[in-house]
Amino acid sequence: MNLGVNIDHIATIRQARGTSYPDPLDAVPLCLAAGAGSITAHLREDRRHIQDHDIERLAAMDGLHLNMEMGATDEMVRICERLRPAACCLVPEKREELTTEGGLDVVGHQRRLADVVARLSAVGVRVSMFIDPIEAQIRASSEIGAPVIELHTGHYANLCGAEQAVELVAIRDGAALAAGMGLMVHAGHGLTVENTPAICRIPEIEELNIGHAIVADALFKGLKQAVIDFRAVMIR
Ligand code: PXP
Repeated sequence: MNLGVNIDHIATIRQARGTSYPDPLDAVPLCLAAGAGSITAHLREDRRHIQDHDIERLAAMDGLHLNMEMGATDEMVRICERLRPAACCLVPEKREELTTEGGLDVVGHQRRLADVVARLSAVGVRVSMFIDPIEAQIRASSEIGAPVIELHTGHYANLCGAEQAVELVAIRDGAALAAGMGLMVHAGHGLTVENTPAICRIPEIEELNIGHAIVADALFKGLKQAVIDFRAVMIR
């Protein structure tokens, strides 16, 4: 199973100050050395974290398997066609949302999304559809020729107890249905070290994309050393 690390929130910290650091690209070699197989970055319409120059530099990194997340807008499709990342994940995007809140409505936008899948596939980008584990959305993704689906685990992550178990079954059934149709199955959103193991036990899921919890964990795993380094500079 591949781990794709979403580096958006490294850019979030940079954008909060308008500085040049932390540079999300500096995270790439660290993530790859630690076992990640790919890097995910979401170029949002409002450019709240990843900027155009980030995605351009990521796309130019030799040998990097870049998964560009984006809304299926004309602007984003043109950027993706030009940069040709290894993969692209189409997500729904609302300006006012804090994060990607629901899955893509492939059923409702079948023609438009079929066109986007065809355009990006034609330039060699592997396209995935970020969808909720709903049979109709899985079937529609297959019908429009998407080779990959990414199952939205955000609802699963936000639930607990019996409700979470029900959502887990939906993800498991969705993964089996999709794989049976020849789709590659990924999953992501809201995953933490606590809720990831159950998702890992679903055999059809080949990739997880995780960002927020990795960046959050990294803060506390690295904070002590950062303070030690500043104290050392002050004492010197
Ligand atoms: N997959 C998709 C399609 C996403 O939109 C996101 C969030 O940008 C993720 C995975 C990662 O979610 P999280 O940051 O909660 O780990």
